[in-house]
Amino acid sequence: MERFYLTTAIDYVNGAPHIGHAYEKIISDIIVRHYKQRVDNVYMLTGTDEHGIKIQKTAKDLGTTPKELCDKNAQSFKDAWALLDINYDKFIRTTDDYHEKCVQKIFEKLLEKGDIYKHSYTGLYCSGCECFLNPKDLDENGNCPIHGKKPDKVSEENYFFKLTKYKDAIIKHIKENPDFIRPYFRANEVLNQLENIEDISVSRPTSNVNWGISVLSDFEQVIYVWIDALSNYITALGYDVDGCHGELFKKYWPVDVHMIGKDILKFHSIYWIGILMALGVELPKSIYAHGWIMINKDKMSKSTGNVISPKTVMDSFELKEPDALRYFMAVTALNGRDGNYSDEEFKERVNADLANNFGNLLNRTLNMLVKYFDGEILPQHIEESELTYKVKSTVRSVKKYFDEYDAASAGLEIINLADAANKYIAERAPWTLAKEGKIEECGKVLYAILDTMAALSVLIKPYCPNISDRVAKQLKIDNNVKLDEIASCAIKQGKLISKEEIEPVFLRLDSEFADKK
Ligand code: MSP
Repeated sequence: MERFYLTTAIDYVNGAPHIGHAYEKIISDIIVRHYKQRVDNVYMLTGTDEHGIKIQKTAKDLGTTPKELCDKNAQSFKDAWALLDINYDKFIRTTDDYHEKCVQKIFEKLLEKGDIYKHSYTGLYCSGCECFLNPKDLDENGNCPIHGKKPDKVSEENYFFKLTKYKDAIIKHIKENPDFIRPYFRANEVLNQLENIEDISVSRPTSNVNWGISVLSDFEQVIYVWIDALSNYITALGYDVDGCHGELFKKYWPVDVHMIGKDILKFHSIYWIGILMALGVELPKSIYAHGWIMINKDKMSKSTGNVISPKTVMDSFELKEPDALRYFMAVTALNGRDGNYSDEEFKERVNADLANNFGNLLNRTLNMLVKYFDGEILPQHIEESELTYKVKSTVRSVKKYFDEYDAASAGLEIINLADAANKYIAERAPWTLAKEGKIEECGKVLYAILDTMAALSVLIKPYCPNISDRVAKQLKIDNNVKLDEIASCAIKQGKLISKEEIEPVFLRLDSEFADKK
């Protein structure tokens, strides 16, 4: 693999970012940072989805224009991602001029091809999903199963995309490519949905919705949300319907993974694939549907009033950097399952894993190095230990989990390595060795731990870049190496640290932060 391209879902801007949106961007950023430790050319795309009835209505309710609402909220998403150290390469807004023009051309191409046709239609429209629902998909009360609301009955003339034409080819592709939909258990769900698939509406008359991209050949219709939104993944790279693609498209398409929530898997694994097939564009290598973040086990929703923003979490714990929240988010939901956020769980988890398990270990070991060896690494202490083998196997399994885009299991594997180092120090008890005069053995144990921490600073870097830097600074190692360059005995002989230079890498949440105020 020479290059890696990841996209996130683009968020609706009718509200502010919450920790569900943040979860997706955090795990995406962690995956991207991990791949930077493996390949040189890595690209991450994120952005905002700005057209549609929801934005139009929200703007009206707020007494503002859709464009003003989009500008304000797109900025609040950018601010949130800056706060969380999300290192995307490009932020696309579906109101960007180049995107709108390209979407219009895509639409015209599909029209010319006969894959889009006009049709009078009466259907049930869910503005939460921004799509028509099949009556078979409604729950027993006739509500949208995702948004819990009754869809609107709408009669209008729309353009339709001939999705049914591609049904068999999509089924074949999913069956022949087991890595296409991840995690694996989601593929059956999609195959079942494909059974009932119908052609999909891709435009709305301007008499009903005007906040959208106009159909070039029919100004009475606007291109509707999904064809507009999904196309961002290629328009951002400079896709051109006539084949004069930009350099980024040539370099990065097909995408390695579309990272999205489970609620929008159908749009990505069925609609988007049909559109790409119709355009004759290569298909994504995989689509990863992550689970949902619940709040105290409840679904987050405006009506329940339990929507939490990443900034609220950062402010209430007085966090000066996002490492703890990034780590917690990454490990709270295992491979595609739902996760949970509560202040209590957050505090307990990061205190246990980052402060006790990880930070204290480094702190104790460095203090012993100062106490017994004046902070110096002696040549006779430098050797591989049983922990060296554990480091190697951890690197292997971390890579394996990231091959499946499972940032949670990889994160736990990394913390397990810190656990193993803690057990090692407890068993070898270097303080007893020193007391018994076994000073050389004591030095070797301390070295084994510190060298493991050096590897850990590289492994944990995608999750906690600031903590990683503090570890690397104290161990005087380079944490910018590729994963395969993690070497045993990376810490060199000579003076490593003095008492004054030892600093905690992570302060426990609550008490110390509160005390420091
Ligand atoms: N605009 C569409 C996506 C278009 S992609 C071409 C959309 N926007 S959204 O704002 O509703 O959601 C954006 C992403 O956030 C989706 O992947 C969605 O699954 C995810 N999440 C929204 N709430 C979430 C949680 N509570 N937990 C985790 N992710 C959730 O859908």
